[in-house]
Amino acid sequence: MKSIHKKYLLKAHLLANDNFGKTFPNPSIGCLIVKNNKIISKAATASAGRPHAEEIALKKAGKKSLGSNMYVTLEPCNHESYNGSCANQIIRSGIKNIYIASYDPDPRTNKKSIKKLKKNNINVSIGITQNRTYELNKFFFKSLIKKKPFTKIKMAISIDEKIAWQNYNSKWISNQRSREYAHILRYNSQAILTSSKTIIKDDPRFTIRKKNKIIKYPPLIIVDNFLKIPLKSKVLNSLSKRRIIIFTLKNNKKSQNLKKLGCDIILVKQKDQSNLKKIFTKLYNIGIKDILVEAGGILFTELMKQELVDELHIFKAPINIGERGIPLLLGKSLKDLKLLKINKKKFGNDVYSNYEIKS
Ligand SMILES: NC(=O)c1ccc[n+]([C@@H]2O[C@H](COP(=O)([O-])OP(=O)(O)OC[C@H]3O[C@@H](n4cnc5c(N)ncnc54)[C@H](OP(=O)(O)O)[C@@H]3O)[C@@H](O)[C@H]2O)c1
Repeated sequence: MKSIHKKYLLKAHLLANDNFGKTFPNPSIGCLIVKNNKIISKAATASAGRPHAEEIALKKAGKKSLGSNMYVTLEPCNHESYNGSCANQIIRSGIKNIYIASYDPDPRTNKKSIKKLKKNNINVSIGITQNRTYELNKFFFKSLIKKKPFTKIKMAISIDEKIAWQNYNSKWISNQRSREYAHILRYNSQAILTSSKTIIKDDPRFTIRKKNKIIKYPPLIIVDNFLKIPLKSKVLNSLSKRRIIIFTLKNNKKSQNLKKLGCDIILVKQKDQSNLKKIFTKLYNIGIKDILVEAGGILFTELMKQELVDELHIFKAPINIGERGIPLLLGKSLKDLKLLKINKKKFGNDVYSNYEIKS
């Protein structure tokens, strides 16, 4: 592909990158329309995933689309929406050439749109910057294959792999810059998942803050088998601003009270070796495709056992907590896991490492 086309595709990727975090459950996609070597329209997927980038870009360009080139980071959809599928809208617009970074893995579209566009005499080029779409929207590709949310564990640890002191205090392990980055990780996730125990011990707010200002209340999932979280927990004060889903074994007065407060209560049958898998399948089926887990080592160990973890985000601080601290993993250390390091940064004296779990 000529470098000019790659240049425009890279610009479309930049639009998608800047927009990431807003489009869940859909991927973040960028689109440019170019005519006579001039960008006449550009767009990224709208908040909450609709309208798609192509639809917005076409609307902005209007009749100018006739005879132009489109650059888009994912194959346009083939499934119907209010204005028809993106593939049909592109055909109607008179676009002449389309440069697509990656196929859409969604079986409703996968290669079908490409076929349709070609059949309608549009020249299609595909695949040149495929990896960028995948890297940005890994949750979308991976969750679709496993039919479970893409799951990331975020943890602040000491050199000796403890996540809290023995009195369960974990507040000051990582430094300010690490904590700021942790808020970016939250922003780039569709929902946060935690345990009853972490709520009881820390009473966190699980908001997304920027310069100490709350900018978002992400959906929160709590695994609380015996409904132990106090009704005065801080997170329950944010029910008017966010969805809270509680998975529990208990159908009792407290579950009724939590429902009345506005929580979604989902009953699970038992706590066994595959219960978390069932919970994760349920989450996928209700549209949650990306999760950041912020809990302790007990839940982390269980999630690893049930093969539900895709990535780790570890902030290691230069402190020693000692043998009686709360461990990151039960009976194991990070070096016992099959990990592939995909990113490393320094935040002051803390070292942040992002690992992929190798299967
Ligand atoms: N350093 C950090 O980044 C960080 C982050 C978060 C939390 N923390 C700290 O971690 C500490 C708590 O850690 P922890 O390891 O003791 O506890 P934890 O992992 O947060 O939570 C344990 C709870 O998870 C639930 N659970 C475990 N296995 C399960 C399964 N198979 N199915 C369903 N639920 C399951 C159980 O809840 P039920 O009791 O409901 O059965 C269990 O009590 C707190 O002090 C908190 O401050 C640290």
